[in-house]
Amino acid sequence: MSDLVAKINQLKKSRHAVILVHNYQIPEVQDIADFVGDSLELSIKASQTEAEVIVFCGVHFMAETAAIISPGKKVLLPDTHAGCPMADMITVAGLRKLKAEHPAAKVICYVNSGADIKAESDICCTSANAIEVVKSLTKANEIIFVPDKFLGHYMASHLPEKQFFLWPGYCPTHAKILPEHITQAKANHPQAQVIVHPECRPETIALADAVLSTGGMRQYVKAPAVSEIIVGTEVGLLYSLQKDNPHKKFYPLLEQAVCPNMKLTTLEKVFWSLEDLKTEISVPQKIADQARHAIMRMLAVSQPDRSI
Ligand code: 13P
Ligand code: SF4
Repeated sequence: MSDLVAKINQLKKSRHAVILVHNYQIPEVQDIADFVGDSLELSIKASQTEAEVIVFCGVHFMAETAAIISPGKKVLLPDTHAGCPMADMITVAGLRKLKAEHPAAKVICYVNSGADIKAESDICCTSANAIEVVKSLTKANEIIFVPDKFLGHYMASHLPEKQFFLWPGYCPTHAKILPEHITQAKANHPQAQVIVHPECRPETIALADAVLSTGGMRQYVKAPAVSEIIVGTEVGLLYSLQKDNPHKKFYPLLEQAVCPNMKLTTLEKVFWSLEDLKTEISVPQKIADQARHAIMRMLAVSQPDRSI
C-alpha cells in the first residue's frame, strides 16, 4: 500500500468518512473506494450511510444529489471543476417554458441535472431505473423528460402508449459512439456481445445486444454464458469489469469515449479533500427541499420497501 493510500485510510477513520466512487473514475481512485457503483447505487449508498462525511468521487450533480438526500452530512467533491456538460445543457427558464406548453405532462428529470431542475420536476430517474420510473406514473399520458434526448428516446421507444416531450441535451462522451464503431468492433470480435449505455444515440442502441446502466453492465457480464464483451460506454468502466471477471475479454467500443470531468479526481485530491474537509457541496434549503422530493420519489420506486 502506498503512503498516500495509507494516509487516506487514516484520515477516513478520523473523519468518520466514506468514499463513494463512480464506475468511470480512474483505477487508483476506484481502488480506495468503500463502494464503486452507478448513479442509482451511489445515491442509495449516500442515503443509507452512517458516516459523517461523504467523499464523492464523481461529478458535481452526484455529490449534489448526495447532499440533498443526506442533509446532516458533509458531502465533499475533491475537484469542484468536475461537472457534467449534459447537466449544464438545460435551464430552469427553459424547463418552465416546456411545462407551460404541456401543462398536463408529468416532469421526469435525469439525475444528471442540477438541483434547481430537480426542484422543478415531479420525479427523478437514473439510467438504471428510467423505464420503471415512467411506468410508476400510471396516470400520466404525457411526459416531459429532461435533459437527455437520447435516454428520452430510449424510454419513449419502450413506452409507445405515452407521449414524450424531450429536451435536446446529450452526453458529449456517449454521442461519440456511432453505429459504424459497432460494425467495426463486431468484425474484429465476431463472438463478442455488444452492450451499450442508454445515453448513446438511437442508431447505436439499435445495433446493441443489451442496453444497460454502468451498474447493469457490471451485473450482466457476470453471467456464465457471457465471455467476450464489447463495451459501449465511458472507458473507465472497463477497469472494474476486468477486475471482477479476470478470465473474460472486454473491448472498449470506442477508446476515445472518455469523460474528461470524470478523470479530474486523483488520489492527491481525495487526500486534500479529507485533510481540509473541502470542497463541501451544499444546496440552498428551499431548492434542496423541493429537489429532495423528486429524488426520494425515485428511490421509493427503486426500493419499494422504502417510504418517502
Ligand atoms: P450510470 O453510471 O448511472 O449508468 O450513468 C452514467 C453517467 O453518465 C454518469 O455520469
Ligand atoms: Fe456527464 Fe457524460 Fe460525463 Fe456522464 S459521461 S458525467 S453524462 S458528460
